[in-house]
Amino acid sequence: MRRRLSALVGLVLGALVMAACSDSLPQSSFNSAGDVAQKEKDLLVPILVIAAVVFILVEGALVWFLFKYRHREGSDPTQVHGNSKLEIAWTIAPALILAIITVPTVSMIYELAKAPTGKSMTVYAVGHQWWWEFDYPDLNIKTANELYIPADTDVFVKLCAAGDTNSGTPVGAPCTDPAPAVGDAVVHSFWVPRLAGKQDVVPGRTNTMAIEASEPGIYPGQCAEFCGLSHAFMRFTVIAATSTDFQAWVTDQQAEALTPLAGSAADGGLEVFKTAGCIACHTIGGVSEGIGGPDLTHFATRDCFAGCMLPVTEENLSRWLHDPASVKPGSFMPNLNLTDEQVSSLSSYLESLK
Ligand code: CUA
Repeated sequence: MRRRLSALVGLVLGALVMAACSDSLPQSSFNSAGDVAQKEKDLLVPILVIAAVVFILVEGALVWFLFKYRHREGSDPTQVHGNSKLEIAWTIAPALILAIITVPTVSMIYELAKAPTGKSMTVYAVGHQWWWEFDYPDLNIKTANELYIPADTDVFVKLCAAGDTNSGTPVGAPCTDPAPAVGDAVVHSFWVPRLAGKQDVVPGRTNTMAIEASEPGIYPGQCAEFCGLSHAFMRFTVIAATSTDFQAWVTDQQAEALTPLAGSAADGGLEVFKTAGCIACHTIGGVSEGIGGPDLTHFATRDCFAGCMLPVTEENLSRWLHDPASVKPGSFMPNLNLTDEQVSSLSSYLESLK
């Protein structure tokens, strides 16, 4: 019986560890894909083991005592109240364990908080309700939902929160250093489990963190702090590219938006973009300078939109443009009551923005 039970426990634990490490779980901290995440995992695993041992010992003793000293007629167990040896032992043992865990944890907190030295890049990640803006101050690039980074390079991420409601606060205030306290901005949390632990994004201050991806790849991220109605849809992806691919991406992103052929469906869409109200919030390089919404200059180079909850397809664009709030509850992009024809040409225009 006992052997079967321990085999079962071993099996369950093994399955959990395998699942946590497998590629089928792209948002697992155990599946680390870079230096920062690896350092954190090297701290997490031993602490988890210590915690598991303590749990098994304490709970095991509890269950054992429960049976061994259960009430029987006429047999009262010997009382140990006031036993100095026991009291000292169970005070010192946990204190020692905590001390052992504290030293590497605190030093790691300070180590990870440092700005990277050497080959590195700085990006601002701005939490909006409910999507992420990525600002590359040194490259003069602004994008949304997809964070492009060069692989094998330390990326210093500066985190700030933007106000987004249409209640008159400065929407999409630039993420300056230190970040301004922006009206009704809310707390978000930036989390790419395979690249680093979470870091809160707090209105009025600029938190920082480093991430690094050792290999090119796609690493899904997620806002990890409840930030309102569509918090669960506030996703993003980090795309780590080879340095050649990253340079090509930078060159593409720095260019102004492509102008559609006169008379084409996309050209009609450009006209809708200019006249229906989109320009108030959306910037398109060479066309408009809006405040608050995602920069759409190279919209069609991205795989996802609307807080990365939807892949860029004609059908999804149509659903979104007809009524954003029905797709992403609480969306601050208003329903402009566009006709089917307007939606269709606007989709063509957006899909032409390579
Ligand atoms: Cu942003 Cu949750």
